[in-house]
Amino acid sequence: MRLFVALEIPGAVRQNLAAMVDSLRAMSREPRWVRPENLHVTLKFLGEVAEGKLDRVRAALGTIRSEQQVTADFRGLGFFPDDKHPRVFWAGIEASSNLKTLAAEIDSAMLEFGIAREKRAFSPHLTLARIERPRLPEALRAAIATNAQREFGSLQTNEFRLIQSKLKPSGAEYTTLASFQFTAKLE
Ligand code: 2AM
Repeated sequence: MRLFVALEIPGAVRQNLAAMVDSLRAMSREPRWVRPENLHVTLKFLGEVAEGKLDRVRAALGTIRSEQQVTADFRGLGFFPDDKHPRVFWAGIEASSNLKTLAAEIDSAMLEFGIAREKRAFSPHLTLARIERPRLPEALRAAIATNAQREFGSLQTNEFRLIQSKLKPSGAEYTTLASFQFTAKLE
């Protein structure tokens, strides 16, 4: 099973982003635009995990705790790896520092399942589109530049999710397998 761990985003943020993506998509269908219902903040991509390990993965995720909720503001647009080589088009996230700690703890907790540590620093973002050909139409670039500092809303949560991704010709289909309340007291 192809799995990842992510934060869900509030409906209002999803709607704000969906409205913008709608207008950008009208300028070019070439980027692979993420469907609004699929938008999420990835904390850790687990990749292929044998179904037999699922219960143990779930148990390991269930032990992860943070004192406080995560708070985050969704603000700004940009590209990975950079503006000149756009592969991923994202909305930025300014989050409380415990988000990074949570991501690091999830990363460490997955080691025992043979899932390698992230090599790159955690850089929270919402992927809006994936770009195959880095030459974006000028109108699209200009529209993105116009929205570069835009605010899309905020998030407060004490929950992350284990999600299964099924790759279909029509695009990825995500199913939440479990939700974890990370501010809950351990028994
Ligand atoms: P990102 O797009 O948020 O950066 C589910 O596929 C999520 O896992 C994606 O949204 C993607 O995060 C993340 N991911 C990280 N590494 C991946 C990889 N090698 N293949 C697919 N998804 C990956």
